[in-house]
Amino acid sequence: MSGKGGVGKTLVSGTLARLFAKDGFKVLAIDNDSAMNLSYTLGIEEEVKSKIVPISEMKEMIMERTVVKGAGSGAYNINPEVSDIPDRFKVTGPDDLQLLVLGGIEEPATGCLCPENALIRTLLYNLFVKRDEVVVVDFEAGLEHLGRGTAKGIDVMLVVTEPSQKSLDLSLKIIELSKKLGVINIYLVANKVIDDSQIDIINDRIKSWKVPLYHSVPYDLEIGKADLEGISPIDFNPNSKAINSVKSLYSKLKKLKLELFDL
Ligand SMILES: Nc1ncnc2c1ncn2[C@@H]1O[C@H](COP(=O)(O)OP(=O)(O)OP(=O)(O)O)[C@@H](O)[C@H]1O
Ligand SMILES: [Mg+2]
Repeated sequence: MSGKGGVGKTLVSGTLARLFAKDGFKVLAIDNDSAMNLSYTLGIEEEVKSKIVPISEMKEMIMERTVVKGAGSGAYNINPEVSDIPDRFKVTGPDDLQLLVLGGIEEPATGCLCPENALIRTLLYNLFVKRDEVVVVDFEAGLEHLGRGTAKGIDVMLVVTEPSQKSLDLSLKIIELSKKLGVINIYLVANKVIDDSQIDIINDRIKSWKVPLYHSVPYDLEIGKADLEGISPIDFNPNSKAINSVKSLYSKLKKLKLELFDL
């Protein structure tokens, strides 16, 4: 899941993760956003939440795994051992879903592969291609840290947009970057939609994009109320307009999954 700040990436990714889990899938939700609020949308208990340390802040472990001994400063192992990390640091949430908090990473200057980025990138690749769970990732807007090899492991990229020109502009940039990185299935999801005229405007704007408006989620006051109460939106009101709409997005994705992976 990617998109401009504040468009609803966490709402959509967290709710989808819950729906996959409720349906009996093994789910690993990944928070790769520096705001790190996926745990709230998933409904992770406060006691569990308060103990989470994001992987990007585990400096000692990152250095241990990436530094090449005796090679002097500036030499990093760009393919560190990471396969044990998800199971060691994930926490369990409602419906038995699992959450791994990576945290955000600093936007790398072109070509920069500092140790944190090397580890997170390798870890994401490991999660995309070596796990048998449904892996749902809440990304930050910038996807530059992914790199080609890693991004190719993404089966479906959902780009969330609000009905605003600014958000659509950034969505186009994300779509172009995702294509450049080798992601094949890219779909646009509009969120906080108030009426059909907004859908018409979005459809008109994206005509030349070759990426469909896959789904739209309505603006829903219940989401704000849940936020204020500190309750996960799907637990606060499982049948609110927006949650019902994410349920129908879920059904579409599940069908797509069946077609793509013959499960
Ligand atoms: N369909 C909706 N209707 C009403 N409010 C919504 C809806 N979707 C999201 N919001 C509200 O918009 C705000 C941003 O949502 P969310 O945190 O999911 O976005 P985000 O893209 O993950 O943001 P960030 O970039 O800060 O991580 C939240 O306050 C959320 O409650
Ligand atoms: Mg978010």
